[in-house]
Amino acid sequence: MAYEIAARPVGHRPSATTISAVSAEERERSPSERREALKQVFMQARSCTRCPELAATRKTVVFGAGNADAELMFIGEAPGASEDEQGVPFVGRAGKLLEQLLGEIGQKRTDVFIANTLKCRPPGNRDPLPIEIQNCEEYLLRQVELIQPTVICTLGNFSTKLLRGDPTGITRLHGQPEVLVLGARAVRLYPIYHPAAALYTPRMLETLREDFMRLPELLALGPPEQPPAPDVPDLAEAAELAEAPEPPKRANATEASSSARRQATAAAEDDTAVDQLGLF
Ligand code: URA
Repeated sequence: MAYEIAARPVGHRPSATTISAVSAEERERSPSERREALKQVFMQARSCTRCPELAATRKTVVFGAGNADAELMFIGEAPGASEDEQGVPFVGRAGKLLEQLLGEIGQKRTDVFIANTLKCRPPGNRDPLPIEIQNCEEYLLRQVELIQPTVICTLGNFSTKLLRGDPTGITRLHGQPEVLVLGARAVRLYPIYHPAAALYTPRMLETLREDFMRLPELLALGPPEQPPAPDVPDLAEAAELAEAPEPPKRANATEASSSARRQATAAAEDDTAVDQLGLF
């Protein structure tokens, strides 16, 4: 099956209607199939140019990292300088705090999946622009759909507002779990303060820690009741069509061998990038 990220209409609420058909199919897929599909989404994101400024200024696309079958997924704002340099989310000071808080609830970075609302660093660490959030939203929804987390912990305002499709801020919402339907799946959404904000404000750190401590009991509840699988025969047919192999093109021997070399080089580069992702 092809895992194309298609351009889709603009809208504030991530209704995820374009992915609901695929979501229904994902329910049937094994973790390793979903991980492979996630790698394909990464391959697409790696060369994304939807946001010309970000594409021109980024060093790497910071797709996300961790357990591709995680129960718990964190969604931050956008990569900073260190993340952009290393291609891995939350490796700077905020990331160290996140790791410490994870340790306090008996979890490691490698137990969870960590992603961001934007996959590219905004220059000078400026706030993500609405159009950038919109452009990147589909990658995030595909990640959620393929990882199938039970709990999504949004860190700060940007990811919380995006997933809830509502401008209510983190100060009002932090520490209050709610069930949210994304695509064809229901998840437990748990907004908390962004660790970067807590770095310099002791009271905020205290609140963040208290909220964090409730994560184990939320995880212990297991997945929320799931909505019925949508009946989408037309889209399923479309997916089959997308899989139809292209008719072979004729090539002479020299063209064929240089094309094979190019493909081998591209495949080796892809493998290296996937390894750097720390996806397992
Ligand atoms: N802040 C974020 O929101 N994401 C990162 O990856 C790093 C810092």
